[in-house]
Amino acid sequence: RRFDQARSIAELAEIARRRLPNFVYEYIHGGSDDEVSLANNRAVFDRYRFTPRTLTDVSHRDPGCTLFGRRISMPVVVGPTGFNGMVTKNGDTKLARAAAGRGIPFTLSNVSTVPLEEIATTPGGWQWMQIYFYRDRDYVAQLVHRCRESGYDTIVVTTDSAIYGNREWDARNYARPFVLDWRNKLHALSRPRWIKDVLYPEGIPTFKNLGDLLPPEDTSVKGAAAEIGRHLMPSLSWEDIRWLRDRWSGHLVIKGILSVEEACTAVEYGVDGIVLSNHGGRQLDSSVSPVEILPEVRKAVGDRLTLLLDGGFRRGSDILKARLLGADAVLLGRTTLYGLGAGGEAGVDHALGLLQGELDRNLGLLGCSCLAELDDSLMRRVGDA
Ligand code: FNR
Repeated sequence: RRFDQARSIAELAEIARRRLPNFVYEYIHGGSDDEVSLANNRAVFDRYRFTPRTLTDVSHRDPGCTLFGRRISMPVVVGPTGFNGMVTKNGDTKLARAAAGRGIPFTLSNVSTVPLEEIATTPGGWQWMQIYFYRDRDYVAQLVHRCRESGYDTIVVTTDSAIYGNREWDARNYARPFVLDWRNKLHALSRPRWIKDVLYPEGIPTFKNLGDLLPPEDTSVKGAAAEIGRHLMPSLSWEDIRWLRDRWSGHLVIKGILSVEEACTAVEYGVDGIVLSNHGGRQLDSSVSPVEILPEVRKAVGDRLTLLLDGGFRRGSDILKARLLGADAVLLGRTTLYGLGAGGEAGVDHALGLLQGELDRNLGLLGCSCLAELDDSLMRRVGDA
């Protein structure tokens, strides 16, 4: 089935699964340990039910909003995902273009396969840059400098990955670190279109934003992931956030917060926004879902922070629930990657179009014309389903 016939993100995921080698699909789709957080990130939405108003005039609807003072077409940001070049050639560029086409921001991962300078030139786009902290502080300083020089206005620091999570799908698919098991090599042969798209003519994609962090002969995504893990800085602390705040005058967003206390600390350190996130269930398993703590966090920080969250957003109704619980916007991880795997840039556009359509329809079905009309009376929490 073609990607443009998919009626839902779940159908797009199924099409992506059939087009990608299993080790690529499982890298995207899976989580850590027993995948409790991964499952709960979806299940949590079912604990909330709408109590819509009818007989309101909803003939004109607009799911747009503002983020950091800038108008966007819906409360959605394409979040950072690494190794996008393994899904399709120049995956980062395709994601950035599709996001720009739909009028929403795109976040480039630190471990991307397209240079950040190139992504910065995406026509009509609003690009954000995600960074990790590494032991090599000069490299981080250099990265921040490159962001400033190329016109980024938002840096997202991911704080939940100072230690790499236990992704057993990846461990199963590789015979030893980053050497594919022979069964996976054989399976890849059944995906000739993927091989042609991703591996020809240059071979395995290489990381383009790691500068001098890795030796030049070792920047292929195949070899470098283990190497990157060794460079991550397990001593990451609020002092490093202070260090970055002193050097970066643009919007500073911290991604990976899961406590009310840390959300409040972020305010003290002059951070502009946070992303409540359990990294899509890929880091600490059995950690709470961001939706579960969202109301408490909003209550504690008030309007002193832009409040974002991610994990499991696959439907427009999920996004409306997050808005009703106090979020400014949500980030997408797998949703747009399924689109990318199913149909490249057009597939991402299709994924975003599905969400936009669902947002618009459900907003109307709730009895509202715009997000500002959403209020507590429109949803309730039910049981412990
Ligand atoms: C990620 N995520 C991630 N986060 C980050 O800060 N830097 C990164 O490089 C990556 N890489 C990455 C790769 C893949 C394949 C996935 C699925 C996720 C986490 C991502 O930004 C986001 O937090 C989650 O994906 C959100 O959950 P959903 O939307 O995937 O359920």
